[in-house]
Amino acid sequence: MIIARPTTASRKIVRVKLSIIILAAGQGTRMRSEKPKVLQSLAGRPMLRHVVECARALGAADICVVHGFGGAEVQDEFAGEKMRWALQSEQLGTGHAVMQAMPETPDDNRVLILFGDVPLLRPATLKRIIDACAPDEVGVLTVDMENPFGYGRIVREHGKVVRNVEEKDANAVERAIREINTGVQSMPAARLKGWLSRLGNSNSQGEYYLTDVLGMAVEDGIAVHGVKAESWVEVMGINDRKQLAQAERALQARQVDELMSQGVGFADPARVDIRGTLSCGKDVFIDVNAVFEGDVVLGDNVRIESNNVIRNSNIGDDNVIHPNCHIEGATTGAHCEIGPFSRLRPGAELAAHVKVGNFVEIKKSTVADGSKVNHLTYIGDTTIGKNVNVGAGTITCNYDGANKFRTIIGDNAFIGSGVELVAPVEVGAGAVIGAGSTISKDAPPDKLTLERSRQVTVPSWTRPSKKSH
Ligand code: UD1
Ligand code: CA
Repeated sequence: MIIARPTTASRKIVRVKLSIIILAAGQGTRMRSEKPKVLQSLAGRPMLRHVVECARALGAADICVVHGFGGAEVQDEFAGEKMRWALQSEQLGTGHAVMQAMPETPDDNRVLILFGDVPLLRPATLKRIIDACAPDEVGVLTVDMENPFGYGRIVREHGKVVRNVEEKDANAVERAIREINTGVQSMPAARLKGWLSRLGNSNSQGEYYLTDVLGMAVEDGIAVHGVKAESWVEVMGINDRKQLAQAERALQARQVDELMSQGVGFADPARVDIRGTLSCGKDVFIDVNAVFEGDVVLGDNVRIESNNVIRNSNIGDDNVIHPNCHIEGATTGAHCEIGPFSRLRPGAELAAHVKVGNFVEIKKSTVADGSKVNHLTYIGDTTIGKNVNVGAGTITCNYDGANKFRTIIGDNAFIGSGVELVAPVEVGAGAVIGAGSTISKDAPPDKLTLERSRQVTVPSWTRPSKKSH
């Protein structure tokens, strides 16, 4: 049987190249910061980075940031990345800002205007605007707000967008409109160039309003599509610390939602922070107050207990990270158990079935399968073999004040409690080191080595007593 399929040929897909212009010239005085507003951190990355990444996700052929205040610092943040910069040395309005980006914007491209301080927009929402427009048409992202005060209002006639009016220029009827302009707009570049050249600044703020372009398009007989964002949160602009914190919470919630939909379990979705990327295997569980920074990978069946900070690390399958650990630049094999109160520093590489306990610090060291370092220990610049047991209070003395040296501990060695291993030094396979020893020469395999002074009892000694005054 042959089933007839509807043909898709009727809808001709026109691939237009996208130029994304990001306005970021404002100073952001309300942050009360030395840092340019768009470099303020959101989920561990500058606000503007989120916008640039969104632009990249849309497959923009050309990304241009209009910068002004703190421009050099902003450019440094993106050094070496494929994008262009346009300087707006005087902030004369959003229309004027876009003009600075236009000379190098190809006429055939479609322009999409974004804002460096509106960082929560998702590519899917922006795609809706682009999809709503035929090549010649204009799109504007709007949202309904309970309190629209301060925003540009979208004026519609018979349901169609006819223009935008700014709060300060609006009459009472217009001010009652709840549908506001998010500022995000899209239009063909050649048309935009024409409209910008006709912009004036005779309004209450003496600014060149980008938003006047909407009315001009309608006058020229070009349709303007108002596309509504699903929620106000996605289009919120960040002007002060309160809004920044609000955006941070919203972004964190979004990230956790996404992970939960992939099957990751959280004790409390509101009490976890991801400042970078977190990739999880199956059946991962994350307890409260976990902070993930940079790129973190968790394998299958990993359990992250409360109060852990994990940065740029790979945690293997079936690991348990007990509470209060700090893990950075580390990798662990399968079935490791870390913590509570462990510190893994960059270059800590644990193989499978390794146990690291409380108040243990491991740096630039490899620990092979089945070894245990359970209490009060410092391991630095060390190679530990398989099934080694490192006793409580052991220290690798890796630093002589000028240089660092390595310690090597062979398979099945047993290091007693309170041992100092003065590097460079090697403990042979199967060796036993007596408690309290300071080992500065190599210890042979399969033998007991110890270094201790003889224990004496002093018969003539009496306990001092308090003097009476
Ligand atoms: C603008 C819109 C308004 C919309 C609101 C949404 C205009 C005229 N009005 O108003 O309809 O409801 O955004 O938040 O566009 N910028 C520059 N250079 C300038 C001026 C602004 O780069 O000369 C940048 C700012 O850094 C900021 C953004 O553009 O990121 C918006 O500027 P702002 O002055 O805050 O615009 P609004 O008055 O809020
Ligand atoms: Ca000692």
